[in-house]
Amino acid sequence: MTRPKESKNENATAASVDGRYFQLAGSAEAVFEPGSYVVLERQDGRRVLGQVDDLTFEMGGPFQGAGRIFGVVSDNGHGLDTHEVRPFASATVEQADASTIELLYSGTPATLTIGSYGSDNATARLLANRFNRHTFWCGQSGSGKTYALGVVLEQLILHTSLPIVIFDPNADFVNLGGRPEGNASGMEGLPSDRDIRVLRPSPANTRALVVRFTDLPLRARGAILHLHPLNDREEYNELMRLEETVGTLDPANVVPRLRDRGTEAAEALAARIENLRVIDWAVWSGPRETATEILQHRPDATVLDLGGFANPDEPLVVAMAVLEDLWAKREERKPLLIVIDEAHNLCSPEGESPLHVAVREKIIQIAAEGRKFGLWLLLSTQRPSRIHPSIISQCDNLALMKMASPVDLKEIATIFGFVPAAMLERSPLFRQGEALFAGSFVPAPMLVKMGNRLTPEGGSDLHVPLRP
Ligand SMILES: Nc1ncnc2c1ncn2[C@@H]1O[C@H](COP(=O)(O)OP(=O)(O)O)[C@@H](O)[C@H]1O
Ligand SMILES: [Mg+2]
Repeated sequence: MTRPKESKNENATAASVDGRYFQLAGSAEAVFEPGSYVVLERQDGRRVLGQVDDLTFEMGGPFQGAGRIFGVVSDNGHGLDTHEVRPFASATVEQADASTIELLYSGTPATLTIGSYGSDNATARLLANRFNRHTFWCGQSGSGKTYALGVVLEQLILHTSLPIVIFDPNADFVNLGGRPEGNASGMEGLPSDRDIRVLRPSPANTRALVVRFTDLPLRARGAILHLHPLNDREEYNELMRLEETVGTLDPANVVPRLRDRGTEAAEALAARIENLRVIDWAVWSGPRETATEILQHRPDATVLDLGGFANPDEPLVVAMAVLEDLWAKREERKPLLIVIDEAHNLCSPEGESPLHVAVREKIIQIAAEGRKFGLWLLLSTQRPSRIHPSIISQCDNLALMKMASPVDLKEIATIFGFVPAAMLERSPLFRQGEALFAGSFVPAPMLVKMGNRLTPEGGSDLHVPLRP
């Protein structure tokens, strides 16, 4: 669809009544697309860089459209003046070339290379300093969310010292620390001096993904044991005392200690713990170092592999312990990017078990108030409706992969009003590896063809076995 850039375009004109937005019109020969970067040459000879937001046309007939203005290109072509806001009555319109588009990045600090964009395949970069916002990552299953997420996280680990924790339900990121000598893929890997911890469920391994029962807030401990503070007054009360009795000891001691107490409620609580088989969960630390203790040192990246637990409550327990601890220590203001892949597992509006509710409320709280404490969320999911609305509404960055459902796209358009609607509407046609980035971490909305990963994916798609 895009016009060759070298043909000077006499077929389209633009005008702006406010110097911020422009209207454009032209004949059938001048074909732009939503998202095209354009240079508008005003009658005073100054060149203005803008982006087409919207276009309508009839087959073979004239087209009309509108777009936004980013700034005026300096005389030497090396800068972009974003302060001059001047209306103009008429300007010629042409596609911006890669070096002019590059001006969008002028004056921005460290950037993360993620792929290419625009008709000239310019290098697409994210603004590293804008990960101090919450980010929403969305696209239908198989659209490439996890792959693209990996590309971005690798760049963050390469170019920033922002620590990252990844809640990884499908073991997709367990190779993040894979060293070139240790993988046969021929990939570059990440520098060996980066501290990358991969914590996986294991009953015996000393570096397993574990948390401590007594570190959990009382409400979460009650939720694990299906106890209600009023409906189950006596047992709940024993649970409160358990801290004094058990401290940080091995969970295997919990039941004997309770039985030692000899009260009816302690006996009931012991039976409950046994019946639910909670003690058998692989998630309890015993003397091992817990995920919260490891995160306290803020490794460059910590992967929490939530997939391998036997009980579906165990991933929720990990999330609760980690998020609760981060929140409790928020005044330390130690920045952390909290990445949650398949985030509907932890903050869907529908989860109703007390543990689900507790985890979701913690995430809602971090979404609402975590930013100023350096707790920044990056949430990935398939549909906007699968994440609680008061969490999504706090997100300033959007990465959108293919999404075919018009209902979902409409919702995205409502929540992320800053994204040109015509660019969103193209999402159903995105190929694998294409993503729309918009919001504060890009200088302008851009459709990116994602670059390659540096480390091998963990859980990529399985192929159907064929017969020879
Ligand atoms: N940009 C890309 N380049 C190469 N392969 C990709 C790319 N994006 C996705 N894939 C492949 O497509 C499959 C699905 O991608 P994935 O990221 O797991 O999707 P999602 O997380 O949205 O379900 C994976 O096997 C992955 O390797
Ligand atoms: Mg995925």
